[in-house]
Amino acid sequence: MTAMPAADAMIARTVARFDAPASALEPIARDLTRQMARGLVGEPSSLKMLRTFTRQPSGRERGRVMVVDWGGTKARAGLIELGGDGSVRTAAEEALTFSEGDKRGAPEPVFDLIARAVGRVAHAHGVAAAPLAFVYSYPARLERIDRAVALASTKGWRLKGLEGQDVAALLGAALLRAGRARIRLAAVANDTVATLMRQSYRARGLDPGARPADVGLILGTGTNLAADLGPAGIRNLESGNFDGVAAVETPYDAALDRELDEPPPGAQRFEKMVSGHYLGEILRRVLRDLGPRAAREHWAAPSALATPFAVDGAHLSRIAADHTGGLDDVGALLRALGVPSTVEERHAVRALGAAIARRAARLVGAALVGTLRFLDAELADRRTIAVDGSLWGGYPDFETRVRESMVELVGGERAARIETAYVKDSTSAGAAVIAAVAAAQRSE
Ligand code: BGC
Repeated sequence: MTAMPAADAMIARTVARFDAPASALEPIARDLTRQMARGLVGEPSSLKMLRTFTRQPSGRERGRVMVVDWGGTKARAGLIELGGDGSVRTAAEEALTFSEGDKRGAPEPVFDLIARAVGRVAHAHGVAAAPLAFVYSYPARLERIDRAVALASTKGWRLKGLEGQDVAALLGAALLRAGRARIRLAAVANDTVATLMRQSYRARGLDPGARPADVGLILGTGTNLAADLGPAGIRNLESGNFDGVAAVETPYDAALDRELDEPPPGAQRFEKMVSGHYLGEILRRVLRDLGPRAAREHWAAPSALATPFAVDGAHLSRIAADHTGGLDDVGALLRALGVPSTVEERHAVRALGAAIARRAARLVGAALVGTLRFLDAELADRRTIAVDGSLWGGYPDFETRVRESMVELVGGERAARIETAYVKDSTSAGAAVIAAVAAAQRSE
């Protein structure tokens, strides 16, 4: 038998560093359940367990709602019609993209951009007055359904002086400046809550006796969970900040956490190992590090690979989706980054990317098990997890990997009672449902 060349062995060892065996995931799941309990009673916890001031829909909600959906580099302004039977129609939608400068400037210009987009959509569709639902996909402490105090931002945003301000009031003021006083902010919600509500609305609209969704999961640029805790209401966990991940951390994760200024070291530890904003960056760091050590000089040479965040979650999905013998698309992607490659090098990139994504999926499985056990320690009942986000929807077999880890943790029989419902583009629609539920709550 010929020995594996040292360079290949080093790559294989690096792939193995991203293993997350069930023996490591089980304590992670247990820690998450414990931290949920602590967060809920206000004890120190990396989970904020934020209140949401909404409740499950009946499925009969109807009406026209303007929506602002803001959660990453993009925001959307839209007009949504709820059919009263679980159906939702997007009558109009306009997308906005933000620059890096926008992300670090004053809040008002960003809110003005959004309010003007709302104004254009309203004008184009003859809407003079309407309730507006605002999906704010960053940490915020709600004090009412229409009041949300911004906490430290995530996903690379740091608007000056935003923390501590009511984002609903800021949007309301921007709508006034845009001459849209009669578009009235009715509800503000996290995207995970909107996804949960969208799934519940669909299920109950079709069958009023249907079980609502128990959990909302976003797996895109960022990640987070919401869960219906019964008497404690629907809560936004802000699970991206869960810090019980040390057992499966690599030196690459530790360095990424240490070197980023936004979010600061120690914050969003789970998100930094799981979500689309970071997975490509982990791969980029691995390639730069292995270049000189594993005789892959191209990875270390001057190229776009030297630029932080040059590799993103969508790249990772593309790499995984390439099933050609010569990994032609991986080659094209590397070329576009200025990196020449041999077929062997492309295979190494693919193996490393797959290891990083697989660990992410397994961590998500552990977090879901930890959340569901909080609701039902024995996992005796059927449960539904509503999921949205580009990583879940776009990364080949991500869901399969998540399910594998859940089966390892709770066994096939219990895992079979856990349904994952992919609800694509659910957040604007879910926010409209939340606004309609808020209107019903107000009239009670
Ligand atoms: C934010 C959450 C959000 C998640 C998914 C995280 O960075 O903190 O509020 O739900 O991203 O968009």
